[in-house]
Amino acid sequence: MRWPHAEVRPRPRLTSANLFAMIHLDSIPAMQAQARTWRREGSLGFVPTMGALHAGHLSLIAAARERCQRVVASVFVNPTQFGPNEDLASYPRTLEADSELLRAAGCDALFTTTPAEIYPPGYASWVTVEGTLSEGLCGANRPGHFRGVTTIVFKLLQIVSPSDAFFGQKDRQQLLLIQRMARDLHLEPVIHGCPIVREPDGLALSSRNAYLSPDERSRALALSRGLRAAQAAFRSGEVDPTALAEVVRAQLTSAGLSEDYVSVVDPGDLLPPRQADASTILALAAKLGKTRLIDNCVLGEPLAQPEEGEPA
Ligand code: PAJ
Repeated sequence: MRWPHAEVRPRPRLTSANLFAMIHLDSIPAMQAQARTWRREGSLGFVPTMGALHAGHLSLIAAARERCQRVVASVFVNPTQFGPNEDLASYPRTLEADSELLRAAGCDALFTTTPAEIYPPGYASWVTVEGTLSEGLCGANRPGHFRGVTTIVFKLLQIVSPSDAFFGQKDRQQLLLIQRMARDLHLEPVIHGCPIVREPDGLALSSRNAYLSPDERSRALALSRGLRAAQAAFRSGEVDPTALAEVVRAQLTSAGLSEDYVSVVDPGDLLPPRQADASTILALAAKLGKTRLIDNCVLGEPLAQPEEGEPA
């Protein structure tokens, strides 16, 4: 029987019997064959990742498990979304640990592939979302990055053919681009955006946090502190996008971070509004040494306060 997308069929509870039932599919044909079977049986949730998994990724698996009968996660460090001077070579690769985490989280299948299988010689097809959604914020400083992202996500959606796919709001521009691509190209899967998972002290979880020295780790708190300060200013009546960005900048500067961008933008087009409102997005990227971190929030959705004893 084929279950309609919208129907949410509760999954069985995790037991020792199904806890160890994850399969590893390490080629496109193997993944396609399994996906066809699972789609015939019901809903299929998909969580694409580049590995080095943490609780942020696992929250997407949990969201997929809640909504879908079967859950597939992919781990693929996609070379086409890294610039020539970026961290492709050093990006953490921890497949064994990732596989254990996914298995324990109740994922049904791990899909891995290789650059040679995804981009064989002669490969020439790209998916781009044009316009302001891809040009500003991270798009301005990482040329070609989003072309790589939308292309690999499109290809993965083709291979896995899920009913639902899950992405984090941590990469909000990426999420908005993928939602636009899905809408523009009539893609079948529903694209879900899931909340940012943070450390108790406020730092958004990221695979790149592993690069931070202890000193950088504590200075990195300026990102979430900046977002919270701007939200507080907004609550006190500040609606000027430039002034709100300045509030964030003051935090970055005082912690000695080098700003890549601080943007106060509308979620529809990622352009600055004349006046900020509760739906306005505040997004930033900053560098600590060689590590580039991003964070963002919606102005009207306050971040949780850091736990007691944790420096803000
Ligand atoms: P990656 O950085 O591994 O992230 C995979 C997914 O996890 C993304 O949807 C991202 O937004 C989400 N995520 C990361 N940190 C999170 C956090 N702290 N809270 C909630 N969700 C979080 O994003 C990519 O990989 C790639 O660009 C990919 C989409 C896989 C295409 O290659």
